[in-house]
Amino acid sequence: MYDDNITLTDVKKEIDPSKQGEVLFYEQKKPFGRHFYIESYGCQMNFSDSEIVASILAEQGYSPTRELENANLILVNTCSIREKAEDTVRQRLTVFNKIKKDNPEVMIGVLGCMAERMKSKLLEEEKLVDIVVGPDAYRDLPKLLNQAEEGEKSINVLLSREETYADISPLRLESNGVVAFISIMRGCDNMCSFCVVPFTRGRERSRDVFSILAEAEDLFNRGYRDITLLGQNVDSYKWTSPETGSTVNFAQLLEKVANIHPKLRVRFTTSHPKDITDDVLYTMARHDNICKYIHLPVQSGNSRILELMNRTYDREWYMERVEAVYRIIPDCAVSSDVITGFCSETEEEHKDTLTMMEWAQYSMSYMFFYSERPGTLAARKLIDDVPEEIKKRRLQEIVELQRNISLQHNLKDVGKVFEVLIEGDSKKSDQYFKGRTSQNKMVVFPKTENLKPGDYVFVKIGDATGATLKGEMVQN
Ligand code: SAH
Ligand code: SF4
Ligand code: F3S
Repeated sequence: MYDDNITLTDVKKEIDPSKQGEVLFYEQKKPFGRHFYIESYGCQMNFSDSEIVASILAEQGYSPTRELENANLILVNTCSIREKAEDTVRQRLTVFNKIKKDNPEVMIGVLGCMAERMKSKLLEEEKLVDIVVGPDAYRDLPKLLNQAEEGEKSINVLLSREETYADISPLRLESNGVVAFISIMRGCDNMCSFCVVPFTRGRERSRDVFSILAEAEDLFNRGYRDITLLGQNVDSYKWTSPETGSTVNFAQLLEKVANIHPKLRVRFTTSHPKDITDDVLYTMARHDNICKYIHLPVQSGNSRILELMNRTYDREWYMERVEAVYRIIPDCAVSSDVITGFCSETEEEHKDTLTMMEWAQYSMSYMFFYSERPGTLAARKLIDDVPEEIKKRRLQEIVELQRNISLQHNLKDVGKVFEVLIEGDSKKSDQYFKGRTSQNKMVVFPKTENLKPGDYVFVKIGDATGATLKGEMVQN
């Protein structure tokens, strides 16, 4: 989910004719019309936001293109979470700048977290950028584009306390027609000391429950079968009806979405260990279609480091939460995010992270070495004193450990039968389908004729690597 690599967000070439909206949209594409090209970086929220942006641009007569050279407007939706993420964007901007030098009519826009973090400094440093737009200002894009077309640099980085884009129907980009993401909240109030997100995304706010349910129902009716509810801290979702004053919490929202249809799989990310309640776990246990998978980032296994990180839980609290998960949902998979080499982390404290990973038996982890971000609490109050080679060596150790744990985790699935939702052809061969289990594990199995993406099948696992399960279909 947190990917510093380049990913192109754009409409897929093959479009299922049953997806009316997308076909219509695709047909609008005229060779001489206005086209935008968008690349997204960072977390799923950004990818989801790019679909909001695409929808806003479609209203203005822009169609998406996968080809940079066909674009009148080049957009990059950026991430600031680590220095490397920002470096990648800078490199991409040099490529876009070259295009603009050849064709000065082309407009370049920087969206997302880096736009928000750097503000007008970005326009000063990147002379060829025309538009800078923060995550809460996408509704202003038509106006900003007009200004830029007049030759004026334009910027809007205002953060909002209310904006959730609830009424904007996202234009699904790069969709396989089966899997989709729904943003249920924006911003974050947690202030983990290492994290730039509260500064780039602003205050936490929850989206209207009815608009979430309407979006999920619409997706189901259009053939989607696997939706992920997105937020930086989904467990603190809380929506209050302006009419009645009644509230909906995350467990209640989860239940409502699960009740849309038993064939609609429901996932969510990210959970915060301080906020995940037993109520959420019992709701998951009660509904077969709420996937048995929780991403529960630990960050560090050491209580002193957790305190410096301002995570507001300690090792014991975290372990109790994981125990509750396995007790209430015995077949649940848990995954994590881990940071190595945070300010003043000792070798012993690093070992606490290793033992935590072993103990928690994560099915997988996203692992990073600490990267100081300007303006964060850690940057202001703590010293980034662990040398880079040590950070990287510790990272290597946790990556290797996780590789082992993932393999053992997957080998335990050999011989078992899982219900798999088919998502498409496997990457390596079109003779194989790929799909996921409820536990979020990728399964590859030989194709048969009468099946298609969006169908559920039962697969008996015969073999496993650290990343994938392999199996054969069995009759239910
Ligand atoms: N809201 C989510 C995480 C969002 S950022 C949560 O609270 O878990 C995704 C991950 O990036 C974090 O979990 C953390 O592991 C990592 N990360 C964030 N800031 C970082 C930094 N300054 N250096 C290295 N990794 C960082
Ligand atoms: Fe960042 Fe912490 Fe908020 Fe996650 S919970 S986005 S790590 S401040
Ligand atoms: Fe990156 Fe912003 Fe997401 S900093 S991880 S794109 S919220």
